[in-house]
Amino acid sequence: MSQDIKTDKPWGGRFSEPTDAFVERFTASVTFDKRLYRADIAGSIAHATMLAKQDILTNEESRKIIQGLEQIKNEIEAGSFEWSVSLEDVHMNIEAALTKKIGDVGKKLHTGRSRNDQVATDIRLFMREGIDAVSDAIRLVQQGIISLAEKETETIMPGFTHLQTAQPVSFAHHLMAWFEMLQRDYERMRDCRKRINVSPLGAAALAGTSFPIDRNMTAELLGFDKPAANSLDAVSDRDFAIEFCAAASLMMTHLSRISEELVIWTSAQFDFIELPDRFCTGSSIMPQKKNPDVPELVRGKSGRVYGHLVALLTLMKSQPLAYNKDNQEDKEPLFDTLDTIIDCLKAFADMIPAIKAKKESMRTAALKGFSTATDLADYLVRKGMAFRDAHEVVGKAVAYGVEKEKDLAEMSLAELQSFSADIEEDVFSVLSLEGSLNARNHIGGTAPQQVKLAIENAKIIIKQK
Ligand code: ARG
Repeated sequence: MSQDIKTDKPWGGRFSEPTDAFVERFTASVTFDKRLYRADIAGSIAHATMLAKQDILTNEESRKIIQGLEQIKNEIEAGSFEWSVSLEDVHMNIEAALTKKIGDVGKKLHTGRSRNDQVATDIRLFMREGIDAVSDAIRLVQQGIISLAEKETETIMPGFTHLQTAQPVSFAHHLMAWFEMLQRDYERMRDCRKRINVSPLGAAALAGTSFPIDRNMTAELLGFDKPAANSLDAVSDRDFAIEFCAAASLMMTHLSRISEELVIWTSAQFDFIELPDRFCTGSSIMPQKKNPDVPELVRGKSGRVYGHLVALLTLMKSQPLAYNKDNQEDKEPLFDTLDTIIDCLKAFADMIPAIKAKKESMRTAALKGFSTATDLADYLVRKGMAFRDAHEVVGKAVAYGVEKEKDLAEMSLAELQSFSADIEEDVFSVLSLEGSLNARNHIGGTAPQQVKLAIENAKIIIKQK
């Protein structure tokens, strides 16, 4: 046989000299793809089960293979398995170990499949599990948001546009905006999972196999919804991985926005919240410092996740059908994306419910910056004035307030009436922070009554899969 001396590779038959040592290291993926071992073994067990049922292997052969694979799994988990770079990747490491363990029958496992459908199957299995973990982690953050929001429905803070004081809002209303962002992230992840959960197994190298395989059976054994419909597409496209990184990137955008707000709010200038000490660190030189490291780092980590998305898009771009070795480069960005977002979500799930709102400080801030100016304009409209005119009147009152350093609610009735005779004693309830919030009593508005309803609704939503 040709395998005698030239090369020890499972594919060595047509080669006349061993792989260059550098090329061996350069082309190997086992250092990182060994992480797929569980998926790889699950895929192989399903394949061997199907081969026996289709009489491509005998029951005895299939049983031996499956037993061997299970032993290998135990060895990997016990840390006693020896990975070899010269065996290139997770697939050939496991297959070689199988043959070593059970003898020549191990060589029959690869009947009717290729590493191309094998690796595509592995990644999909791995990512399905990853997405389930991400989904659970998002739910924990949402749960944390709800539990903080429940305590803060009546807490009033200034709402901002352009980071300038705009209108007073319930702090819980602001928190529930975060909930909504994460809910869309959750839905994107679940939706991405649908396209991941399709079985490439049986596509073999690219064209299918000449053996009478049962692709429905392997798909079902592995919990896939169906077999992939086209063998070329099945081994080639990594769009599902790109989609996952896109969903992860958007989620990191959201986490970075939340982080930014937390960083701003903990500053001495805002002083809206306190983060527990365990989520902060000090400075080696400035004794007074308590830095919001965790949100800062989450904000920073959005950069690497976006980077992985661009890496995968670029990796896939212009690849001709079907499998190309380029695709081996999909794993590290994917793994790092998954690890990064799981860590960020974990940090948030712990940190958010532990946030302490500085209610007095928020209230003081909400009383500055004429946050109820729109309420005064709306009041004048209810008295019969056109909105544009009311806007103008209130603008003048604000200019007066800036000059006198008085908020609208601090002006006397006579002062207010100097801007419009329509203004009466009842204006003061409109100008109060509570009045302003309560007035916005409709779906999605900031009235505490609505925010409580939104929280109740959110509690139902997070029970959904
Ligand atoms: N390690 C390879 C990868 O990750 C497995 C597939 C290799 N297939 C091949 N024809 N060389 O893509």
